Amino acid sequence: MTEVFKGSFTQQEPIPDEGIAAALEVLRSGRLHRYNLVGDEPGEVALLEQEFAAYTGARYALAVASGGYAMGTALRAIGVVPGDRVLTNAFTLAPVPGAIASVGAVPVFVGVTEDLTIDLDDLAAKADQADVLMLSHMRGHICDMERLMAICDAAGITVIEDCAHTMGAAWNGRASGRWGKIGCYSTQTYKHMNSGEGGLFVTDDDEVAARAIMLSGSYMLYNRNGTVPPAEVFERVKYDTPNVSGRMDHLRAAILRPQLRALDAQCAKWNDRYRVVEDGLRGTPGLGVVERPAEETMVGSSIQFLLLDWTDTAVAEVLKRCLDRGVELKWFGGAEPSGFTSRYDSWRYAPSTPMPASDRILRGIIDMRLPLTFSLADCAQIARIIRAEVGTVFQAQA
Ligand SMILES: Cc1ncc(COP(=O)(O)O)c(C=O)c1O
Repeated sequence: MTEVFKGSFTQQEPIPDEGIAAALEVLRSGRLHRYNLVGDEPGEVALLEQEFAAYTGARYALAVASGGYAMGTALRAIGVVPGDRVLTNAFTLAPVPGAIASVGAVPVFVGVTEDLTIDLDDLAAKADQADVLMLSHMRGHICDMERLMAICDAAGITVIEDCAHTMGAAWNGRASGRWGKIGCYSTQTYKHMNSGEGGLFVTDDDEVAARAIMLSGSYMLYNRNGTVPPAEVFERVKYDTPNVSGRMDHLRAAILRPQLRALDAQCAKWNDRYRVVEDGLRGTPGLGVVERPAEETMVGSSIQFLLLDWTDTAVAEVLKRCLDRGVELKWFGGAEPSGFTSRYDSWRYAPSTPMPASDRILRGIIDMRLPLTFSLADCAQIARIIRAEVGTVFQAQA
């Protein structure tokens, strides 16, 4: 009998009851704007900022409207201006080059390795082309951060980390988002905490934090933020930092705070599911499992595997056969952007030079979400289906 998976790849868990109760409180109060506070009450947004700063060990955290907004704010806060070039990953999602383009800057793409991390040799070769790197820990894969920081420090490159897929992850015990000057996170529905839309920004730098707070739309109410740089820093920046509103509201913060308390436990559940799928796929002929380095504390909220050097037709056939059996896979190599997935050469506002070694890898990257609504048995079944369909197409090719 042919098994068919019946679950939904886009179905997240419900918001925890505690978050629903807190959200109802906010709704009843009518005070949703972050600076609509009574007396000395800190409000949900400032509390989330304090708690996220404590969780990451950063001096400052700022809650904002989206991960993309956090990245654009990061670029503005360090002084990126129109026409500047910004290094970034060729293997990432559209909001990353989009954040660079949003400040009028120009993305310079850096290649990807078979570990699905940024190609550090390519980064070293391009290090003289920009002063900033927007490093995307795409799909949770973290590169050798010591080596990356050594390359960037030597070249005077400021690193901003896109941690949309690495909230809760670390390299060599140091949290993702805490290597560069700024860490940017997303709390959009498919990320590790879910507020529909939302983002977080962390830094230790007084001036960057003050600028980011002003940029986010604090007016002159910045003292009511959760983590606040010294007053003299605001005096220095408040007249020349524009307001580019992108605040978070109390409703979103209220549902995120209980999720932050549960984050580490949730990450462990993702990893349990990841390992079941990984074990099930290991040894499938023609399929490459992406080995995770010992230095990485990963969060397996999605899994990738490689069909390296397969023809486009054969990859498309695997995707179709899996979908027919209820397993939704995404393909990063497709020539046409599709759903959430697109290739660097499809971002035509950002001209790129072809990178044949990276193109070969991108053509083979297959991606799958692992929502926590899947049981371990679901994950084992999904792996069996992929294994069977990859096997069938691989044999037919041989
Ligand atoms: C790699 C990556 N970076 C950044 C973002 C931006 O997050 P948001 O959707 O909150 O703007 C996303 C969102 O999908 C993403 O996948």
